[in-house]
Amino acid sequence: TVLVVDYGAQYAQLIARRVREAQVYSEIVPGDTSVEEIVARKPAALILSGGPSSVYAEGAPAVDPELFTAGIPVLGLCYGFQAMARALGGEVAPDGTREYGRTELTVTDPGTLHGGLPTTHPVWMSHGDSVVRAPEGFTVTASSERAAVAAFEDTGRRLAGVQYHPEVGHSPYGQQVLSRFLHEIAGIAPGWTTSSIIDDTVAAVRAQVGDGRAICGLSGGVDSAVAAALVQRAIGDQLTCVFVDHGLLRAGEREQVERDFVAATGAKLHTVDVADRFLAALAGVTDPETKRKTIGREFIRVFEAATTEVAAEEHVGFLVQGTLYPDVVESGGGSGTATIKSHHNVGGLPDDIEFALVEPLRALFKDEVRRVGRELGLPEAIVGRQPFPGPGLGIRIIGEVTHDRLETLRAADAIAREELTAAGLDDTIWQCPVVLLADVRSVGVQGDGRTYGHPIVLRPVSSEDAMTADWTRLPYEVLERISTRITNEVAEVNRVVLDVTSKPPGTIEWE
Ligand code: XMP
Repeated sequence: TVLVVDYGAQYAQLIARRVREAQVYSEIVPGDTSVEEIVARKPAALILSGGPSSVYAEGAPAVDPELFTAGIPVLGLCYGFQAMARALGGEVAPDGTREYGRTELTVTDPGTLHGGLPTTHPVWMSHGDSVVRAPEGFTVTASSERAAVAAFEDTGRRLAGVQYHPEVGHSPYGQQVLSRFLHEIAGIAPGWTTSSIIDDTVAAVRAQVGDGRAICGLSGGVDSAVAAALVQRAIGDQLTCVFVDHGLLRAGEREQVERDFVAATGAKLHTVDVADRFLAALAGVTDPETKRKTIGREFIRVFEAATTEVAAEEHVGFLVQGTLYPDVVESGGGSGTATIKSHHNVGGLPDDIEFALVEPLRALFKDEVRRVGRELGLPEAIVGRQPFPGPGLGIRIIGEVTHDRLETLRAADAIAREELTAAGLDDTIWQCPVVLLADVRSVGVQGDGRTYGHPIVLRPVSSEDAMTADWTRLPYEVLERISTRITNEVAEVNRVVLDVTSKPPGTIEWE
């Protein structure tokens, strides 16, 4: 394991992902982890992340000099680079040098880290102050306009550092530099691959569950499907999957689970058909938060009843959850597994059943989950699915949710998705909510007659993490095809409009 020591930059997760792309497993530890704790984990190498702009910045975290003398290979990035320089007797000038954004790097001595790279190439910088003298024993290997010492290495001690950020896409050779550190300087053999992830996870699940029984709720989304598929591969029929069809799904989603997921995995599936119950509960509800609460409450009740039924028949002791690594990092958790009293953690499981959690995706990032899903043969419609909210189409009908309105929205949404996929835009778009303004009518004309129908809103957005988003500039021809088809094929809709609001100020969903 390579440990990424996080000094508070927003880049730690990105660094961990890049290390994994070099086929080396990595985890993130907080910057205040003690040297003893780090050494006890026997890491194959450490990567110190960026952080504040300078080691002289106010509140800059302390970096224990013993990190560099413990015999572990270390790569310092940005703040980690300055900290390494200072700890080992180099000099960081508190001169307020600032260098932000794209910068030309000049490789003065390729050494090991920059071996085979162009003599000058662009890198992404973000620092105040700079290293002016490398510590004894280090070779300075690169410089930039404002940083005389932009990279150094001491391959004997297996220590190296760069002032720039190799982990970001704006440093086009960054991945090579990280790989060279891991493979050449630290001497770590690549080998952490999708198939090794599957083998290791399957073995771990088998060891955890033994001959016990497990249950897994499927949502139609990628995380629960891949988690279930891994557990299915590990314990076969000891797993039962539960799928709640609340009637707020998009066209084809139930079939993807019932037919394609089952065909790919052989999983035992228990579908609960409760569309009418949800419609009854949602009757008269128009406020977005009340809708969410209503849907959430009904979902919990239905899932609880189904779980109790299955659990009683099968003596289920384990609950499978699709928790991902970013959730684990953000909640400050380690890589262990937890036993929970069900209602503490997982919304609405029966109070009197105690489950042990099985979390096969706990060490993985989303893109890795998708790769695992593909290798397990799951349908692309599930593995490649864009984010879709738990309350489903219920929060994409502005106004009361009714059976007919759901049918209208489902038809329009299916057309939009079909055309976006056909235009090859699925990877460009983060997600594209299709929204029905059910209480708005506008006048139109079709054939010889006047129409008085509802507008459909297209909300294509580009985003990294859904926290911020921009509206996606879709080609006019694609918009035209979607608009023509929806107004022709969906009788109640006579207008298609495009949402051109970023987030903030808009949110991605309309409710
Ligand atoms: P907003 O609308 O807040 O959405 O910009 C951000 C992301 O979260 C999704 N979303 C939800 N997901 N339950 C969910 O599971 C919800 O109630 C919910 N509301 C929004 C939304 O699709 C987007 O990806």
